[in-house]
Amino acid sequence: MLWLGVVCAVCVSSSPPVYAGEKQQPPCNTGSTMCNDSSSDAPAIPLRSDSFSSFLFFMEKWGRKSPAGSLPSQDRYQAFLVLVHACVLCQFSAIQSCGAGLLQQGALCLHVLHTDILQIKTWQKSLERHRFLNSEARDTSDAHYGINQFSDLSVEEFTNTYLKSHPPRNKDYYVPKKKAFGEKSLPLQFDWRDKNLVTGVKNQLDCGACWAFSIVGAIESANAISGNPLEDLSVQQVIDCSYLDRGCNGGSTDSALKWLNQTHTKLVRSSEYPFKARTGTCHYFPPTEHGVSINGYEAYDFSNYEEEMMKLLISVGPLAVIVDAVSWQDYLGGIIQHHCSSGHSNHAVLVVGFDKRGDTPYWIVKNSWGTSWGVDGYVHVKMGENVCGIADFVTFPVM
Ligand SMILES: *[C@@H]1O[C@H](CO)[C@@H](O)[C@H](O)[C@H]1NC(C)=O
Ligand SMILES: *[C@@H]1O[C@H](CO)[C@@H](O)[C@H](O)[C@H]1NC(C)=O
Repeated sequence: MLWLGVVCAVCVSSSPPVYAGEKQQPPCNTGSTMCNDSSSDAPAIPLRSDSFSSFLFFMEKWGRKSPAGSLPSQDRYQAFLVLVHACVLCQFSAIQSCGAGLLQQGALCLHVLHTDILQIKTWQKSLERHRFLNSEARDTSDAHYGINQFSDLSVEEFTNTYLKSHPPRNKDYYVPKKKAFGEKSLPLQFDWRDKNLVTGVKNQLDCGACWAFSIVGAIESANAISGNPLEDLSVQQVIDCSYLDRGCNGGSTDSALKWLNQTHTKLVRSSEYPFKARTGTCHYFPPTEHGVSINGYEAYDFSNYEEEMMKLLISVGPLAVIVDAVSWQDYLGGIIQHHCSSGHSNHAVLVVGFDKRGDTPYWIVKNSWGTSWGVDGYVHVKMGENVCGIADFVTFPVM
């Protein structure tokens, strides 16, 4: 097995200088090597399922920690990828050794090698994408893009799993609103979180129910704004029961509100009907059960009228919107202003505030991809140019 280590050392030393800062022994046994290498004392790294968490595991085991998404962590991730390249070569040698004895095991090794190469291609594409997205950045307030929990996925995989909200089929009732809400003077900064009227960021996992998270978030806030305690309501209930939508396979904010308005369904607490990340059978509760129902809803098209949208946000509460979130796959922080146009709505989120104090005014948007994504689970989107189509489909519940 010594020569296996030698091959690894050679692979690593012939790699680009990014590796130079990392003095650790390369982990040859990557967990995907099916050939038994008992002489190696390197830990088995579960590479196959999720390279980003393998990377974090690797950093904990072998290196110093730096915050996910930071520049040092990105450099290290690249060094990690180089190591993985080296290990693919190690596996290739391992194929020769184990394949000699057992043809079957050799085939298994080849399969592993093949999937490794596909994975590395995905990573390389991610890195290319980050370079492209970051190329427009002018100053530090601009959005920056890089390694996060979605770097493992190709654009197609990401889109097919996470971007499952569609715009309404009938846009007629999305009335364009111009000077609809009077001549209110607006504050420079407003955030419903400051009043403690927004629940914590949720994680939809690989269930395409952003539409449900978006409207349940709006209802949680609207319910608290009207004087009730702020509590997490059941997203799973909406996923399972809204017959106008397709559960984890997608849906729309306005059809979910339509269903809630038609059926007068009471949303129970999240703890009573917890999130399962897959579509299940609708569980009915007796009418006496504690729950939150809506009395109506409104829908607006505020493209060209974002000032009016600000007034509405302040007077009624957080607003459910549908945006184009393809470039959000790689978002780390800052204000999104490029590479995000309107006309391709695919993801539902919740606008909870805005900030116009700096050079670039922006909307503060709550997402449902966990707190490790973006700015503690939030994203900032430039105001005034309908960036990402944020003002196209705006809905809110009437309590
Ligand atoms: C590796 O070795 C262990 C114990 O020696 C054995 O149980 C296991 O099946 C082996 N794995 C493979 C893929 O051959
Ligand atoms: C909500 O339901 C009420 C009747 O319960 C109906 O009058 C109203 O038009 C509905 N709202 C919308 C936006 O469909």
